[in-house]
Amino acid sequence: MWKAVVTAAVAFVLLFCRSSTLDNGLARTPPMGWLAWERFRCNVDCVDDPYNCISEELFMQMADRLAEDGWKELGYNYLNIDDCWMSMDRDEQGNLYANKTRFPNGIKKLADYVHSKGLKLGIYLDFGTHTCGGYPGSIKYLQKDAETIAGWGIDMLKMDGCYANVSDMSWGYPDMEMYMNKTGRPILFSCSWPAYAGGIKVDYSVLAKHCNAWRNYDDIQDSWDSVTHIIDWFGDNQDVLAPVAGPGHWNDPDMLIVGDYSLSYEESKAQMAMWAILAAPLFMSNDLRSISPEARSILMNKEVIRISQDSLGMQGRRVIKGTNKVETWIRQVQTKDTFAVAFLNRREDGMPYNHTLTLGSLNFTSTMGYEVVDVYDNHRYGHFKLDTKLTVSIDPNGVVFVYAYPSK
Ligand code: GLA
Repeated sequence: MWKAVVTAAVAFVLLFCRSSTLDNGLARTPPMGWLAWERFRCNVDCVDDPYNCISEELFMQMADRLAEDGWKELGYNYLNIDDCWMSMDRDEQGNLYANKTRFPNGIKKLADYVHSKGLKLGIYLDFGTHTCGGYPGSIKYLQKDAETIAGWGIDMLKMDGCYANVSDMSWGYPDMEMYMNKTGRPILFSCSWPAYAGGIKVDYSVLAKHCNAWRNYDDIQDSWDSVTHIIDWFGDNQDVLAPVAGPGHWNDPDMLIVGDYSLSYEESKAQMAMWAILAAPLFMSNDLRSISPEARSILMNKEVIRISQDSLGMQGRRVIKGTNKVETWIRQVQTKDTFAVAFLNRREDGMPYNHTLTLGSLNFTSTMGYEVVDVYDNHRYGHFKLDTKLTVSIDPNGVVFVYAYPSK
């Protein structure tokens, strides 16, 4: 008898007394993977464009690429569905289900497939009455939808905020987190709440308790303008944003567009470097079936990924917005005195720019001096005392990305 009581008590504790804050143990470093939206949008035309439409076929193909082309081993292990996967209506019991033409086997089967490849599957819901693309929203069905996606074996949820009152988000997102916790399935929770609440007009300490990541700002588009617009916003608001990032909870400047149509090679290196400096989630939105070797080499650069995934989890900052239009961004990594430094060329004169500085001017302090090494190609710039001049040549719209670590 007492055994049954103890078992029941333990079951009760496990089921209902999980912490009310986000303790799912996920995203100790910024999550990595692939997300459909920027590249494949809401293309539901599987009749005329079967190869590119939002369908189980597309996700299975991307799962194959992530698993077979070396991405997974580097940490890109989430495969994420975005908007436009649903049927336009719920079923008679109010459950969500996938569009039956485009996902004939349903999401659970897709999750099984993705898991069989050693990957995780993410999905998209919207907190409001409808998704941004007009599909059913979750506002009246939070618990049901949490149970549905957990039952399917979903590992990550991006919950968008279209067609919702911002004032409802302060209960809605925490409620969704609670319902997901109750299912017992660890689901990485990405909340779009701040993006709808004006970016900095939210209490980030509350967000960090309920969400593993959050979209802060505008959607990324396939252009360098869009990338720099986002970088500028993160720099301008870094005093609010940088302190709230850390293991388990990250600011999200949106997807990587490296490998798409618009960015040059240098711009692609710059986006990747800046996302690493910002301790951003690294979700590629590109076509992994036909990605160029150049884009692949940038996205797969182990040293850049190592900085992105640094266990201190400190978000970097723009420390100099130079009058010469070179910005200096620094992220502290590993041990106290080691830094990743990105020099970002925002000039428009169209030629490589020689930028000269001293490490002392960046407030580095080790009187031993520092070894400076290029992150992308391991080029050794040499040893620099605090007042020795260092010159880096930065291509237009490009970045020079270095490590500096103390050494004699
Ligand atoms: C919003 C989000 C995007 C994407 C679309 C889908 O715009 O910010 O990332 O999810 O909705 O409709």
